[in-house]
Amino acid sequence: MYCYRKVTDDLYWIGGNDRRLALFEGVYQIPRGVSYNSYLLMDEKTVLLDTVDKAVKGVFFENIEKVLDGRKLDYLVVHHMEPDHSEAIWEVVMRYPEVKIVCNAKIAQMMKQFFSFDVDARVELVKEGDTFHTGKHNLVFVSAPMVHWPEVMVSYDTTDKILFSADAFGTFGALNGALFADEVDFPRDYLDEARRYYTNIVGKYGVQVQALLKKAATLDIQMICPLHGFVWRKDIGWYLDKYLHWSSYTPEEQGVVIAYASIYGNTANAADILACKLRERGVRTEVFDVSVTPASEIIAAAFKYSHLVFAAPTYNSGVFVTMEALLMDLAEHNIQNRTVAFMENGTWAATSARQMGAMLEKCKNLTVLEQKVTIKSSMKEAQMAEIEALADALNEG
Ligand code: FEO
Repeated sequence: MYCYRKVTDDLYWIGGNDRRLALFEGVYQIPRGVSYNSYLLMDEKTVLLDTVDKAVKGVFFENIEKVLDGRKLDYLVVHHMEPDHSEAIWEVVMRYPEVKIVCNAKIAQMMKQFFSFDVDARVELVKEGDTFHTGKHNLVFVSAPMVHWPEVMVSYDTTDKILFSADAFGTFGALNGALFADEVDFPRDYLDEARRYYTNIVGKYGVQVQALLKKAATLDIQMICPLHGFVWRKDIGWYLDKYLHWSSYTPEEQGVVIAYASIYGNTANAADILACKLRERGVRTEVFDVSVTPASEIIAAAFKYSHLVFAAPTYNSGVFVTMEALLMDLAEHNIQNRTVAFMENGTWAATSARQMGAMLEKCKNLTVLEQKVTIKSSMKEAQMAEIEALADALNEG
């Protein structure tokens, strides 16, 4: 049965929610599900804006039929070719053989790679700055390369001042009946998932996101319709500010993320002692066991806070495996502009601090504290002063 919601008088959300997928993109845990958003504009022309993942195609096609209410589908606008939004394109073409597809040249090329139908026969190519008239509405296209793939474009409806933002401004989490961000307590219930979505999906491409934000700043945006998560019609400036922080790798808050790997609990003990010393100084802390907490959560926390401490045993003459994986991931996500410290453990040859530092060497503008802590097997009373000194440095730095 259909399940859709009205966005404006003539724009409909016709997407779906997936609460069964364990790993988004095969990597990211999504315990609260995810939404795949598609929109249908009922103007003089009927215009479908993107499609959905195969998981929710059933309700998606029921929604199209219901909203079209006997009219034919004239156009499909494709902003992004990742299959979570494009998988249903071939079936749209099969079901609505007269539909024309509006997209840019890169999208058309990818469409040929993913599908076997005659793309050239039905594509109307657009480029940056082109306008598509649908009747009452005009969609202006703006390219947004690497937010999150190279072909991505967004569009701006000059009539209702709506930005169709593709992956940008999305979040993990099913919609659960709400459509607009102001229908939920977004800062309390969804901001962490929005940060985890942003930092892990497009965190690497801060420069490109900044370029899109610069273009967006020239537009009067009254509503944002992303491909995941909620539609924004209030507090848009607040959410844009989050994106400005994340894309410029600027911490949102002062605080220390302590990420540790521990084989027998001794490194964990040192991490906990440091957290206590920091809290005694009034410093906010978050502590993660990197062998237990998914990397996506720790990466999101690293983007949120100003200071990062990594604590790990030396293992096979290197860095313990789960910490090694986390640091590679963090470096790949371009973490920068942070104060960093290391704690190492080793029963006979502790070298993990130096090696962890080397793994983050390519990250820009990291201030590495000299107050390194070296544990030989387990913490000793005599080392408390070192932890106090590290806590002082983190508090002051
Ligand atoms: Fe939600 Fe890049 O796809």
